[in-house]
Amino acid sequence: MPPQTVPPGDPVLLQAAQMIEQALKGNTPCPVVKTFFDEATFTASHVVSDPQTRRAAIIDSVLDFDPAAGRISHSSAEMIVAYVKSEGLKVDWLLETHAHADHLSAAPWLQQQIGGTLAIGREITHVQEVFGTIFNEGSQFEHNGSQFDRLFDDGDSFKIGEIEAVALHVPGHTPADLAYVIGDAVFAGDTLFMPDYGTARADFPGGDARQLFHSIRRLMSLPADARLLLCHDYKAPGRDEFVWETTVGVERSANVHVHEGVSEEEFVAMRTARDATLGMPKLIIPSVQVNIHGGQLPAPEDNGIRYLKIPLDVL
Ligand SMILES: [Fe+2]
Repeated sequence: MPPQTVPPGDPVLLQAAQMIEQALKGNTPCPVVKTFFDEATFTASHVVSDPQTRRAAIIDSVLDFDPAAGRISHSSAEMIVAYVKSEGLKVDWLLETHAHADHLSAAPWLQQQIGGTLAIGREITHVQEVFGTIFNEGSQFEHNGSQFDRLFDDGDSFKIGEIEAVALHVPGHTPADLAYVIGDAVFAGDTLFMPDYGTARADFPGGDARQLFHSIRRLMSLPADARLLLCHDYKAPGRDEFVWETTVGVERSANVHVHEGVSEEEFVAMRTARDATLGMPKLIIPSVQVNIHGGQLPAPEDNGIRYLKIPLDVL
């Protein structure tokens, strides 16, 4: 691959690129990544840990939800808890890349079981404003991100044990999307999918294909050998197993939607046309309703039962 091409004038990205290079050279530690793939929602949840200190982060966990029965269960999250306990990990972070529209977050349940600081991007406040209005949440719902423990801005750094990590703001799929760079690994959230599948949609309220293009180009200018871990996989035609890891360099040269050489205008035209053909995700209404509250379920009504709303003729 050609050498990295961090554009001048993006000190945050330069810092992230240098961090990755130090980890790739072995000068700084790299994380261990264990992925749990949920075939019901095609979501990859990653447990990222420092093998020396046994400190860990959980990225994009899944709360199981059967929409036909309205029933919540925890078997996906329980597998994560079992892994954390068997490896003797101490969870410092519960990281969300964005307010997901295809699965409910298990972060509050995990926090009760194994602790951790719940974090998301600061722009979640805009998502809360838009969807708070759609769900007619009323004035008691604060659109200030207070449902989370920590709101990250672009370039905010943190640690998992001795491993350096930095949050990158990568809007487009939603206004609040973050990617997390942790040692030699980039957790891309819903920006890129596997090279043979392409990119995330950009047509949800607050989404923007042009922003998504720039966010992807930012990620693609990180070092080619960086590990790139995705939030979803849907098995591209001709591939019969789920895959959630590639590298920045492979995405740059081979992503079917946005490889090097695809112009902004070409990408926006392709993404807009494709998004116009997509139906809403099966779980968007319960997912967003819960996830803008940091994954907290609605309070029970006076009969002790929790309810979700379905806005009609809005989405
Ligand atoms: Fe998403």
